[in-house]
Amino acid sequence: MANARVLIVDDEPDLVELVALTLERMGLASARAGSLLEAQRLLLSESFDLVLCDMRLPDGDGLDLLEWLQQRRPGLPCAVITAHGNVETAVRALKAGAFDFISKPLDLAVLRRTVISAMKLAERDGSQTLTFQGPRLLGQSAPMEELRGLIARVARSQAPVHIAGESGTGKELVARLIHQSGARAEGAFVAVNCGAIPQELMESEFFGHKRGSFTGAVADKKGLVQSADGGTLFLDEVADLPLHMQVKLLRVIQEKSVRPVGENQEQPVDVRLLSATHRNLSELVALGQFREDLYYRINVIELRVPSLRERVEDIPELTNHILRRLSKREGEAIPLLTGEALEQLSHYTFPGNVRELENILERAMTLSGGTEIGAADLQLRAPSAPAAGPRKFSAAVQEASALGSQLEDVERAAIVQALEQTRYNKTAAAKVLGMTFRALRYRIKKLGIE
Ligand SMILES: Nc1ncnc2c1ncn2[C@@H]1O[C@H](COP(=O)(O)OP(=O)(O)OP(=O)(O)O)[C@@H](O)[C@H]1O
Ligand SMILES: [Mg+2]
Repeated sequence: MANARVLIVDDEPDLVELVALTLERMGLASARAGSLLEAQRLLLSESFDLVLCDMRLPDGDGLDLLEWLQQRRPGLPCAVITAHGNVETAVRALKAGAFDFISKPLDLAVLRRTVISAMKLAERDGSQTLTFQGPRLLGQSAPMEELRGLIARVARSQAPVHIAGESGTGKELVARLIHQSGARAEGAFVAVNCGAIPQELMESEFFGHKRGSFTGAVADKKGLVQSADGGTLFLDEVADLPLHMQVKLLRVIQEKSVRPVGENQEQPVDVRLLSATHRNLSELVALGQFREDLYYRINVIELRVPSLRERVEDIPELTNHILRRLSKREGEAIPLLTGEALEQLSHYTFPGNVRELENILERAMTLSGGTEIGAADLQLRAPSAPAAGPRKFSAAVQEASALGSQLEDVERAAIVQALEQTRYNKTAAAKVLGMTFRALRYRIKKLGIE
């Protein structure tokens, strides 16, 4: 945070003064611009770590600056200052790439937290060698590559993200990755299954309660929202939230504060909100089962996780990975799939997506009890209408499994040779091999090359 500089863009001298003073107390230097034009001039000639921009400027608005920043300084976080209660503007700013928004009248605690988050983000970007704990998002298909790109982009912002997708596609995994790749990675990731909490306990589970506020409340209890303070709150199956909780949640988002059951005072909270459901939220809005205002707040950015049917070429990789993981857990050798088993998988539509593939393979390993998994072990339901591209998938699986180990040996040798030739410079080695750096990094990891 040392030597960090913030650009304050606002034409209200009192507000600028207040912000500058707050930043100074945090040990941060600042510069001021009273108009869009002046801001652009400063941004081109000096270097900054964060921009705080008022929504209304004499010669334009915050959205204009956001658009300009996307073009000229895409890595620079910008938080906008919006009029109190102007939800639409805040949402538009987040969609336009704002890192976060702060509403007027300024709450200095909120301002400080926003600034700290932005600085953490800059710090993380400086150290590119992030090692993620936990599962990775597998799949080299175009839709998955695109999804990975989107995850990296939305991780930079504080905007609420809604993750849509069929069940078992990896929505929770995506939520965890957004959290891990962003400024809040060190904070908590609190996942809440909205469909699993009994209605009568919901308010106290979410917001906590004060001792004695109802029968059974024997001690003060912290809510899930407070547990996510400084981190991420993931509302899984958000469509299952009853309407009265939707109202309360909307308040939390708007006010950035919560009131525990039986408590008079609101407590400030700083959470990033991610949500997911396998249901069609906009349809539920149309049916009056989900509040439209909440829908717009949580759905500022929507990511859709593709079904397995839309990325059949990922199935071999997923299959290999899952079999490897299961074998490791059981301390057994990795089994092979027979040609017939592959053929059957190739005609399967996977209504339960990756989770179903995991279940099928786990069951098959148990049933086969050996080194080979046959068609009968898969116990697939009778093939329904064939999915799009089963042929392509079939070919890909056959190739990957039959040739798998042989190809891996050849590949490993080629990569090692290229690395030695380039003195372990991965960028140069990727050139030699005619693949992208990313692809090489992936292969190295997959083949377990040190
Ligand atoms: N691309 C992927 N790479 C590796 N593993 C994946 C991938 N997608 C999903 N998985 C795995 O599949 C399982 C299901 O994923 P997850 O729980 O994230 O799905 P979901 O969309 O939340 O499902 P549901 O709607 O059933 O809650 C998990 O074990 C997860 O690790
Ligand atoms: Mg889930």
